[in-house]
Amino acid sequence: MGRKGGRRSQGALLFGMDRRHFNGLAATGLMGLNLRPQAWFDLLSDQNLEVDGPRLNQRMRELESFGANAAGGIDRVAFSDANIEALDWMAGLLVESGFSPSIDFAGNLIARKPGSSPELPSIMLGSHIDSVPGGGNYDGQVGSMGALEVAATLADAAYTTRHPLEVSIFSNEEGGKTGSRALAGEVETFELDIVTASGFTIGDGIQRLGGNPDRLEEVRRTDGSAEAFLELHIEQGAVLDADEIDIGVVEGIVGIMRWTVIVDGSTNHAGTTPMDRRSDAMVGAARFIDLVHTTARRMPGRQVATVGRLEAEPGAPNVIPGRVTMTLEIRDLSMAGIERVFNEISGNTARITEETGTHLSFQRFYTSRAAPTAMWIREIIETSAQGLSLSTHRMPSGAGHDAQSIALFAPVGMIFIPSVAGVSHAPDEHTTPQDVVNGANVLLQTLLELDER
Ligand code: GLV
Ligand code: MN
Ligand code: MN
Repeated sequence: MGRKGGRRSQGALLFGMDRRHFNGLAATGLMGLNLRPQAWFDLLSDQNLEVDGPRLNQRMRELESFGANAAGGIDRVAFSDANIEALDWMAGLLVESGFSPSIDFAGNLIARKPGSSPELPSIMLGSHIDSVPGGGNYDGQVGSMGALEVAATLADAAYTTRHPLEVSIFSNEEGGKTGSRALAGEVETFELDIVTASGFTIGDGIQRLGGNPDRLEEVRRTDGSAEAFLELHIEQGAVLDADEIDIGVVEGIVGIMRWTVIVDGSTNHAGTTPMDRRSDAMVGAARFIDLVHTTARRMPGRQVATVGRLEAEPGAPNVIPGRVTMTLEIRDLSMAGIERVFNEISGNTARITEETGTHLSFQRFYTSRAAPTAMWIREIIETSAQGLSLSTHRMPSGAGHDAQSIALFAPVGMIFIPSVAGVSHAPDEHTTPQDVVNGANVLLQTLLELDER
């Protein structure tokens, strides 16, 4: 079936009937009834849970109003008023679905609902709702609203899972995955002083959300404390859209390391200092940026390297910059690959500094470890998608995700849906309403299947 339909055929529906419902029908003797085919169909339809697509897409539109910008995108950076107000609205929706929400010490919105077997570890669902500055309306938001929709669907059907459920909306994903990394015990103390796009430091931002940066250690989870974590997310690349595939089954998520790079030269008069007597930090920076780009392109492998931010001091047209501060980010599916690229870059800066009369230093400020998803959850996602007549494709994720930190203490699965033209981190980011619904239904079916185990 083509991806635009995404509806189940009758056969698929019978095939998709989950084990609990099948057993339930068998136990009540309904399987022995001599029903007309249409009556069977209606009966099984009632038993098969599906998300409420119009409600989900309507709530996606409501979420957009928190931090909407004139470009049609979103400025809901972590710790901003829009971030706080949207979390508040979502907490209300979770209460309506029978969940008990609270903000943990790391500023995560965590909402729990007991299962019928309280001794079991919880199944976690969620993502993030903070955006990059000038971001789009789908990154993180699909997975967050998808989790809320699954919660609402279960509540509507008065369906109680065996496992306790936990919906998590993680704090500051875009500015350093603070919330999910705190659960994995990855946040380093110095990070709390990093100034984020909101203007607040991470520490102050956590406090604004209702957390407590001095008690991060207490949110750390132990191995096996969750049965699994499921994250629905837009692909943010063009593979699914170009190949007309409904669902991406994520095999692994890239590791990311970031450094502050400082180039020091000498501030001087831009009019009176001859060209051969300058130590221009901006020239050193320009050569460095080129080195980063050419190194990552030249080396074998699928690594990517980016200088994404640059600030020159003092920053005036008539002053030779004495200092440039930049960020360097390197990503790869293996941490060793990242180290190799970094060593290659840092080992080749001597020529730049000699020729430009500058000094260059690196300070690593962020590490997010590469993580494979759990093999057995990939299979469940695939089976769930197939039961909904949706096509699937296994793929890596070049974007970072909360799931990669949760993977440090629990098995994780990630479901991708197509990004139109592969655009992301931009106002034009778009995913069709049908794909949003498809993703949420796969999330729901995957959860139900996991819950049976
Ligand atoms: C998250 O969006 C990342 O990949 O930076
Ligand atoms: Mn995201
Ligand atoms: Mn993002």
